[in-house]
Amino acid sequence: MVSKKREHFGGRVAVILAMAGSAIGLGNIWRFPYMVGEHGGAVFIIIYVLSTLLISLPVFLAEVMIGRRSHTNARDAFARLSRQHPFWKTAGYLTILIPMLISSYYSVIGGWSLEYLFKSCGFAFSGMAPEAASTLFGSFVSSTWTPVLMHLLFFAATVGIVAGGVRSGIEKFSKIILPVLFVLIVLILIYSVSLPGAGAGVRYLMHPDWSQLTPRTFAYAMGQSFFSLSLGMGAIITYGSYVNKKENILVTSTGTAVFDLLFAILAGFAIMPAVFAAGIEPGACPGLIFQSIPYVFAKMGATLPVLSGIVSIVFFLAVIVAAMTSSISLVEVGVSFLMERARLSRVKACLLIFALCGGVGVLCSLSFGPLAGVKIAGMAIFDLLDWVCSNILLLVMALLAVAFVGWILPRRVVHDEFTSHQLYPFNDRIFPLVYFLLKWVAPIAVVIIFFTNFIL
Ligand code: PFF
Repeated sequence: MVSKKREHFGGRVAVILAMAGSAIGLGNIWRFPYMVGEHGGAVFIIIYVLSTLLISLPVFLAEVMIGRRSHTNARDAFARLSRQHPFWKTAGYLTILIPMLISSYYSVIGGWSLEYLFKSCGFAFSGMAPEAASTLFGSFVSSTWTPVLMHLLFFAATVGIVAGGVRSGIEKFSKIILPVLFVLIVLILIYSVSLPGAGAGVRYLMHPDWSQLTPRTFAYAMGQSFFSLSLGMGAIITYGSYVNKKENILVTSTGTAVFDLLFAILAGFAIMPAVFAAGIEPGACPGLIFQSIPYVFAKMGATLPVLSGIVSIVFFLAVIVAAMTSSISLVEVGVSFLMERARLSRVKACLLIFALCGGVGVLCSLSFGPLAGVKIAGMAIFDLLDWVCSNILLLVMALLAVAFVGWILPRRVVHDEFTSHQLYPFNDRIFPLVYFLLKWVAPIAVVIIFFTNFIL
């Protein structure tokens, strides 16, 4: 399909940065802390780390290998490597559907961040009573127009950047702002653990209460790990196709996974102590960071109003940029599909995606307010969509990717890819272990976790 010569990433650092740019986003800062809160604290973190290392990392390697070997986009990669087998041709379409669904509700959270950036610009939190700053979220999210408007604004900006072909600009910007976000999270962490009452939050994250462990913990932890590493969505396959043939994919994949893990855990430690200090219920809802972080800024604002105001602006700006780079890569998948297959121009494809995904996003946004009573299978629209994507579709797609490498590609090809054609002796030595993880451990674990999630 793609006959043009594909670009290559410059070097190892460029590869890790690009992959980390896609991986680090709302998944780490917004989704991880509330998943931890909903699924028992330390227990969730332990299962999350284990599933990242034992399952997600092999899946990550599998996706990079599929991309690099096929040298094409996610949908055509399976078709090409399976010599146009009808099953794999069809499976490739999932890699289009999933990012489109995710982009629709991802931008609702992007919209919340935008609203909080605007609030920060007026130094809203620094002059507020901390409790008032944390309860602000409830009335905002349940209102009708502002969250919808913010979602549409965020999504329009994302789609506009994709339409204008100016994504490299924001991606360059993200390379500066992501380290800033990292530093800010560390600073917030230090401040947050020093708040009165924060100790309970730290204990919650450090002392596992095994009675909290249920079969669901595994499904949610694995789904979170896939979401956070952008797995099961074609993104890493696409990035893999840009990776140089000589690159050591073990280093780049492990580097990205560790980076992403660290970011999430730091965000958890920055937010959970503040949650306890503010007396917020840790399993509250997707709004956890929008309740706890303003509390931190308001507390800080009582003594250092200017600093608190500035930090909150930079923080929400950085969150938006991290969210935007991720959201751009989600939208790009659907746009390039429509351009290639439906022969639409870039602008028309963008408009169509804006209408489709933006529309679904509006419903998701309203499900926190006027449509809160609409429940399907006991879940509001937003929760349902997130659950279907993260706990079902991502698992299915990740399973297909890892099984494809473990069972469909010849062992020799996998070995060639993993060692970059015998370039790396260490990779050669550990290949039997990695192949075992790819062929047996990861697929079986995904299948077991997938079914226990439904049966138990
Ligand atoms: N990994 C991103 C996050 O953690 O926020 C979400 C994401 C972005 C998933 C881009 C997939 C993707 F293609």
